[in-house]
Amino acid sequence: MMESLMRRSKFHVLVFMLFCSWFCYVTASVTYDHKAILVDGKRRILISGSIHYPRSTPQMWPELIQKAKDGGVDVIQTYVFWNGHEPSPGHYYFEDRFDLVKFIKLVHQAGLYVHLRIGPFVCAEWNFGGFPVWLKFVPGIAFRTDNEPFKAAMQKFTTKIVNIMKFEKLFQTQGGPIILSQIENEYGPVEWEIGAPGKAYTKWAAQMAVSQNTGVPWIMCKQEDTPDPLIDTCNAYYCENFTPKKNYPKMWTENWTGWYTDYGSPVPRRPAEDVAFSVARFIQNGGSFVNYYMYHGGTNFGRTSSGLFIATSYEYDGPIDEYGLVNEPKWGHLRDLHKAIKQCETALVSVDPTVTNLGKDLEAHVFKTSFGACAAFLANYGTTSSRTVKFGNGQYNLPPWSISILPDCKTVVYNTARVGVKSWEKKMTPVNSAFDWLSYNEQPASSSERDSFTAYELREQVNVTWDSTDYLWYMTDVNIDSNEGFIKNGQSPVLTAWSAGHVLHVFVNGQLSGTVYGGIAFPKLTFSDNVKLRVSNNKISLLSVSVGLSNVGVHFETWNVGVLGPVTLKGLNEGTRDLSRQKWSYKVGLKGEALNLHSTSGSSSVKWTRGSLLAKKQPLTWYKATFNTPAGNDPLALDMSSMGKGEVWINGQSIGRHWPGNIAHGSCGSCNYAGYYTDTKCRTNCGEPSQRWYHIPRSWLNPSGNLVVVLEEFGGDPTGISLVKRT
Ligand code: GAL
Repeated sequence: MMESLMRRSKFHVLVFMLFCSWFCYVTASVTYDHKAILVDGKRRILISGSIHYPRSTPQMWPELIQKAKDGGVDVIQTYVFWNGHEPSPGHYYFEDRFDLVKFIKLVHQAGLYVHLRIGPFVCAEWNFGGFPVWLKFVPGIAFRTDNEPFKAAMQKFTTKIVNIMKFEKLFQTQGGPIILSQIENEYGPVEWEIGAPGKAYTKWAAQMAVSQNTGVPWIMCKQEDTPDPLIDTCNAYYCENFTPKKNYPKMWTENWTGWYTDYGSPVPRRPAEDVAFSVARFIQNGGSFVNYYMYHGGTNFGRTSSGLFIATSYEYDGPIDEYGLVNEPKWGHLRDLHKAIKQCETALVSVDPTVTNLGKDLEAHVFKTSFGACAAFLANYGTTSSRTVKFGNGQYNLPPWSISILPDCKTVVYNTARVGVKSWEKKMTPVNSAFDWLSYNEQPASSSERDSFTAYELREQVNVTWDSTDYLWYMTDVNIDSNEGFIKNGQSPVLTAWSAGHVLHVFVNGQLSGTVYGGIAFPKLTFSDNVKLRVSNNKISLLSVSVGLSNVGVHFETWNVGVLGPVTLKGLNEGTRDLSRQKWSYKVGLKGEALNLHSTSGSSSVKWTRGSLLAKKQPLTWYKATFNTPAGNDPLALDMSSMGKGEVWINGQSIGRHWPGNIAHGSCGSCNYAGYYTDTKCRTNCGEPSQRWYHIPRSWLNPSGNLVVVLEEFGGDPTGISLVKRT
């Protein structure tokens, strides 16, 4: 008896061991099949949301992640921002807003997964697409192609990130939250343009990624020829018709919840109903992973926003706004959608749908399993009228451009066009408009200054500045001989300067003669105007300003910024004088930058004026003031509507470039949700500044005596600046 008991328990141990070896293998795995991503051996419908860690502060992260979780999000997706992590070759930075490990651990603590898009090209409206600017100066380099120096650098950084993740045990197979990674970003269109070297690079990138042995799948978004075993995914406003590779799951890495704002254009919005409709349509067509780009967009602090005039706010009309508050009705409407989808999960992952036509523009997608689970999606693709359909034993009314979800194939728990959540009005309430401003006028640079150098040509800006600053002075002398006379027919001569972008201030003999700037569609600019010259020596100082570097396009590393010329003077008796090849002096950056006027210690290094001497409407002026932090937890911002363009610092940290002087031109079309959305149609802010308010993270403030410093290029009235709270 005893013996048989022992034999039996030995048998149980053996069974348990066998079970455990299988079970243990399964618990630590992420795989995929034609239906879905399998986590721990289980197919999942996964809802994901993009939150880019450096676009908010570590103090904001826990609440953002919790709000995403409460909104029904399972996965947080983020890019990895190389230029933030490796500011100079081999010198790494993982602190503060760039504390990637902390961010991922917070997501883990909240019980969510991570999709880590290492890139390291990220696009993302982030300066230089995420690449460090020094990379451009590696000898022989060409970005994102079959180029040895580039591939070596890309592999080194990718390996660095993967090793950190492994060391911290952050991959799911190690017990961590990362279930997916990404190499490259939307490389398909580039490869298509550059051909063979692009194809070779794609193959290499995929192999390099796989050889990292992360244990979790890699994806390459928007790239049809993604090599096995990498997953190709869709990025767009609608992805219902996306065809994954054979035997691969249908995944959507970027469902754009709105769009980015650029200076000079109205602010894009996307109705919650349309976002919900696009998701339901994707899921009913067999999709199993949807990521909202962006779920929380945040802020392009400092000089992180990319060229082509991307605004400091990266709100994106995401479900959580720039300030960390829920954006209703979008957040709540999508939360309800996620609940409805999750009620269908078992049926969705088990079978492919049966699609039935119920009339013109009407369809039923039914997921009916052999074990009794059944979920149905009833769709009306018409854009004008509600329709009633017969389905099963029931009748269902479907608003235009909508999908109803029936998790038991009978009861409608959700319709994408019926919003059961109240929308909230966002308010910006002034809390302090009485700053005691001090001003300091920066004089245009002159060729005799220290640190200036000369050349007999016009130089491209980034090659000179390495993007260490937005500003580069181009200075030259124009001598007018009295004997010759210089004004043809008594007219002032016309100075013309061609620039590759992005903004140009022209000073003649210390006076501002004019300012010109490009725009998102056409960054190049030309200054051409009459200028007042005197007989004898004239000082021409051109201040060229970049607004970030391009983040996308074939070989965007070669795109130029600054005054490339020609620069000419027309209307002299002698004819047209070409100034392009005469002696030019260059000075990198502004004097105030060199003096660190933005910092607490540096701000006392010059003599400021105040009261009746306060500079107003004068170009190139620095302002400073101190203020106390308002009580409470409401998010704070500066209303900069009385200012032109420049940058703002709080206690030495840059809250970004301000440019309320750039008024939104374009059309603010209808935001009617029923019909295909385009980001150029549904917009707000026409005739207003593209961006009026600039977020001040509360964690950057002390209870009292906070230093605010503003650099103003165009000329503004600082007494119009106010501190506001967002409620
Ligand atoms: C996508 C890109 C993203 C972002 C987006 C626009 O094509 O992958 O990184 O740039 O466009 O916001």
